[in-house]
Amino acid sequence: MVVIRGATTIERDEKEEIQAAVKELLDKITLSNRIEKSEILSIVFSSTSDIHAYYPAKAAREAGYESSSLFSAMEPEIDGGLPLCIRVMLFLEKNILPKHIYLRGARVLRKDVAEKFNVAIDGPAGSGKSTVAKALAHDYKILYLDTGAMYRACALAAMQACASLDSEEEVARMAETLSLDVEYRDGVQHTLLFGKDVSEEIREPSVSMAASTVSKYPSIRAKMVEKQREIAAKMSCVLDGRDIGSVVLPAAEFKFFLTASPDVRAKRRFDELKAKGHDVNFDDLKKEIQARDLQDSTREFSPLKVAEDAVVIDTSCLSVQEVLAEIKRKIQEKI
Ligand code: DC
Repeated sequence: MVVIRGATTIERDEKEEIQAAVKELLDKITLSNRIEKSEILSIVFSSTSDIHAYYPAKAAREAGYESSSLFSAMEPEIDGGLPLCIRVMLFLEKNILPKHIYLRGARVLRKDVAEKFNVAIDGPAGSGKSTVAKALAHDYKILYLDTGAMYRACALAAMQACASLDSEEEVARMAETLSLDVEYRDGVQHTLLFGKDVSEEIREPSVSMAASTVSKYPSIRAKMVEKQREIAAKMSCVLDGRDIGSVVLPAAEFKFFLTASPDVRAKRRFDELKAKGHDVNFDDLKKEIQARDLQDSTREFSPLKVAEDAVVIDTSCLSVQEVLAEIKRKIQEKI
């Protein structure tokens, strides 16, 4: 007897989605394992407790798997579990080496059998990329790497070392002895400079422009890009930045570029900083964002740029949830 495992996720708890997801999963399992429907003795489904619209077993019968004995059960609600997920176990009376199939969001459940994948989300300041990247990584249960935080930490180190930011030589000299690490605690990125957690400090508005300045320097970029590639090579992750799709990971499986009007972006930064208790002026912030846009997109070395194969989303009139849904839809279309 052989058991084949599989899982998939749906976007909404709707009958048609469940039917399509079950059919896709079972068809991929049979195709990849080169088995006939009639060779399957039994198929057991379990679905997370947020799925009510339809029985996966019924969907399987409708998809032509009627010769197997079919069964569906509901899983207990587990804190932090992958939402809207359907798991399956197929029993065969045949001796094959089983190929387990994990599709869509469920790929993250079995990193050993699912392929590793990277999602690149680039865009200018305030385009919403970090909020969306964080939420996406959370939903897919994969790592979120905020690459801007690395340039910010670099800028902070240069400022603390009293290096002249306009001198590539001085900044590069400082970077030779730089100890910069990213760590994850409860899924949240912490940026460490010489072992000290500077995650809050690097968000100060004074660091933003400095980060944009030091990120112009090829020697700094080379160091950061190497670190980013190292992390992305090891595991599935969502990376946000300016050059992820174009330079850091040109072979990333999924690439997005988020934009928004300068007013909307300045308003987002304004609200974000106000909520953190910073005393900020909207017009100053807008000017700073525009100056940063200009510096980031006109620098010689790896400027902010839309990768040729990136999906561009204007987030000006969209909520975080809407952007997230659009990104997931595009990812699922491509998987
Ligand atoms: O995304 P952020 O605002 O935290 O980024 C701060 C600065 O770092 C940004 O103005 C440009 C630079 N940066 C970069 O050049 N490349 C990246 N991949 C990320 C950020």
